[in-house]
Amino acid sequence: MAAQIKDVLIRQMKETDIDSILDIDKKISGLERAFTYENLFDSLIGGEIACSFVAEVEDHVVGFILASVTYVPEEVTGACMIQILGVHPGYRRQGIASRLIGALADICSSKGIREIRVMVDQHDTNLQGLLDTLDFRRGSIVNYSLALP
Ligand SMILES: CC(C)(COP(=O)(O)OP(=O)(O)OC[C@H]1O[C@@H](n2cnc3c(N)ncnc32)[C@H](O)[C@@H]1OP(=O)(O)O)[C@@H](O)C(=O)NCCC(=O)NCCS
Repeated sequence: MAAQIKDVLIRQMKETDIDSILDIDKKISGLERAFTYENLFDSLIGGEIACSFVAEVEDHVVGFILASVTYVPEEVTGACMIQILGVHPGYRRQGIASRLIGALADICSSKGIREIRVMVDQHDTNLQGLLDTLDFRRGSIVNYSLALP
């Protein structure tokens, strides 16, 4: 179990969090992805349930999880899809991602949603390490994609 950082506030994401989230994402990816985030926020804010969260330490956003409920044929209630999550590099291994996913799990349970899904690159050992710890199990759905010219 990761050493838990004290005084972390986990709260639902607001539209005004976009700049803080983008800053963390830039630290993770080195990419400017404002367009992606604006689109994500459009689809997430005011959606069926508010299931995106941020983690704050001393009034600064240090982590986030963006998720949405989606229809899946084999689930009556739909499933919650994690679109992206990230923790500021200076705040990792202190339980922040675990708490963000915990907050997501709580709200999903309270709404009768029985499953949380996330797509993971097979080489992404960081994320797989986290998911293994939190009892996520590899599902049977395989991703097929077509590269376009
Ligand atoms: C993956 C990520 C979100 C984890 O955040 P975090 O706050 O450090 O995770 P936690 O502290 O809650 O980790 C809990 C447990 O998960 C596992 N874990 C977390 N990061 C891990 C890593 N890099 N490698 C292996 N296991 C890891 C560990 O078991 C850890 O417990 P421990 O610290 O006691 O060993 C963070 O490293 C990150 O933002 N990575 C870059 C972005 C990314 O990969 N996003 C996912 C794509 S959508």
